Amino acid sequence: MKLLSGKELAATIKLEIAKEAAEIIDSGAKAPHLAAVLVGEDPASQTYVASKEKNSREVGMMSSIYRYKEDISERELLEVVDFLNVDEEIDGFIVQLPLPKHIDEQKVIERILPSKDIDGFHPVNLGRMMLGLPAFLPATPMGIMTMLERYDIETAGKHCVVLGRSHIVGTPISVLLSRKANPGNCTVTVCHSFTQDIASYTREADILIVAMGKQHFVKGDMVKKGVVVIDVGMHRVPDETKKSGFRLTGDVDFEEVSKKCSSITPVPGGVGPMTIVSLLQNTLKAAKRSREVGK
Ligand code: GUN
Repeated sequence: MKLLSGKELAATIKLEIAKEAAEIIDSGAKAPHLAAVLVGEDPASQTYVASKEKNSREVGMMSSIYRYKEDISERELLEVVDFLNVDEEIDGFIVQLPLPKHIDEQKVIERILPSKDIDGFHPVNLGRMMLGLPAFLPATPMGIMTMLERYDIETAGKHCVVLGRSHIVGTPISVLLSRKANPGNCTVTVCHSFTQDIASYTREADILIVAMGKQHFVKGDMVKKGVVVIDVGMHRVPDETKKSGFRLTGDVDFEEVSKKCSSITPVPGGVGPMTIVSLLQNTLKAAKRSREVGK
């Protein structure tokens, strides 16, 4: 069994990004600048945003966090988006999800300028992705594709089963893996809350991508020998031995499933670091584009 370490691969890619960021700065241009909008106090969102900031600084990019209270109105948040859309200092930005219930998330996403939408959530970017046109790809599916590519996992002709159909992970990864490209050329099955007898599908998977948000859902008897497993789940489990008071675990029962895999991503240290690094790659792309336009 091979462990697909997102942590190690992300470190390698961060060196590549740092080199490119340094070249931009050496050419006399300003450093690529990523911003994140954070509403409220959700602990997981705070951790993600802090990690994005730490990682962007590590590769020599600028990073800003715009924090707002839970009770910010939708109109005020849309004004923040309008401001960031025109701020020439910012190359790209994300609005951390989920947003409070009184705010229409889709309305906020659609307000982001597609050329600054480094999360790749805007319908223009998702539509371009569907058509195989250049676009910002959503960070988690992009990170998974990078992992498959860099770890030389054969995808052509394989049966890929995706558990989950979210806009952020399940739906885009199913599109990317069925595309005529490498990685890609998979036969893809998407399972979701209405799927009957999920195990009958997972047992047929050569590649299993699990993004359903249910802790340890996939057990050893649900996979065939030699499967490649990508675990997108991220759950906090109380753990007094940890300084933070919790440890992270995934949607896959690693103990059981890893015994049958040819390769598997761990949680933590698997898909998570690849998501962050993909966001940095998108920021670099946005920065290069805006520098080109500015010339
Ligand atoms: N919440 C969970 N994942 C993400 C992500 O990739 N981007 C944003 N903006 N919010 C998230």
